[in-house]
Parts: sequence; C-alpha cells; structure tokens
Amino acid sequence: MVRASSQTLGSECSANERQALADLLRENTLSAAHLEIGTAAGGTLKELINCYPDPATRPDFYVIDPFTYYPDQFAKVVRNLRSAGIDPETVTFWEGTTHTYLKAARHDGIRFDFVFIDGDHRHYPVLVDLQ
Ligand SMILES: C[S@@+](CC[C@H](N)C(=O)[O-])C[C@H]1O[C@@H](n2cnc3c(N)ncnc32)[C@H](O)[C@@H]1O
Repeated sequence: MVRASSQTLGSECSANERQALADLLRENTLSAAHLEIGTAAGGTLKELINCYPDPATRPDFYVIDPFTYYPDQFAKVVRNLRSAGIDPETVTFWEGTTHTYLKAARHDGIRFDFVFIDGDHRHYPVLVDLQ
C-alpha cells in the first residue's frame, strides 16, 4: 500500500489532532527539547516546529524514526522541512527506535518538555517509547 504522506508529504494526523498539538505548544512555555517519535514525511513535524516562528528562540527538535516507512523517506522529510522554510540541519534525526537511543539520551542528560509518540502503535513499542 502506498502511504498518501509519501506523495503529499502531509501529516498523517487529523486536523483536530494537529490543532490540539499546536494549542498545547502555544499555550505552554516549553523550552526544553521537543521529540517526535515516528515522523512519516515530517508533515506534523513541520507544523510543530513552525509553532515557534523564530528559529533563534525555538526549542531543539529531535526525531526518532527507522526511516524505512517508504523509499527515500528521510530525503522526503528533508524536502518537506525545507519547503516549509525550516533548515533540516536544525533538527536532530536519530535513525532507529527509542530502544536504541534511550540510554544515550539519558547519558547525555537530554530533557524533553514535549514528546509526541506516533511510531509503532503496538502495545510493547509504545510502552518502550513511554519509558
Ligand atoms: C503513523 S507514522 C507517523 C506519522 C507522523 N507522526 C505524522 O504525524 O505525520 C509512523 C512512523 O513511525 C515510524 N516508526 C515505526 N516504528 C517505529 C519505532 N519503533 N520507533 C520510532 N518510529 C517508528 C515509521 O517509520 C513511520 O515514519
């Protein structure tokens, strides 16, 4: 099955879900890093990042994704961010799963004020992501 987001580069979330996420970011003062687990084409990611119009004061953004959702997924994310006026170099991309990066993130003392879990929706992987 061809995922629509691989062609449209749009979000896989509904408009209501995206609005709820944007409201959450705008209504709170979140300064520590933000993490999206599972980004598809980066359709939601670019909207979350653009909730902070000034790149100079924007929190750091991280993404965890195996980037095997569809061919050229990472290149599509990069293109998508660029088209939304976002420098992809400002986002830290961790290729893999939280299982791979949890230890390193803890070791480096990285704190996240916001984590959007939208990777593998099965029970166990979500539990790992929550951890
Ligand atoms: C539902 S899509 C994400 C949609 C995206 N958040 C959006 O709003 O458009 C799921 C994504 O999770 C990624 N993925 C699958 N298993 C994962 C895992 N264990 N950890 C992180 N990402 C995972 C897939 O590669 C895919 O990009």
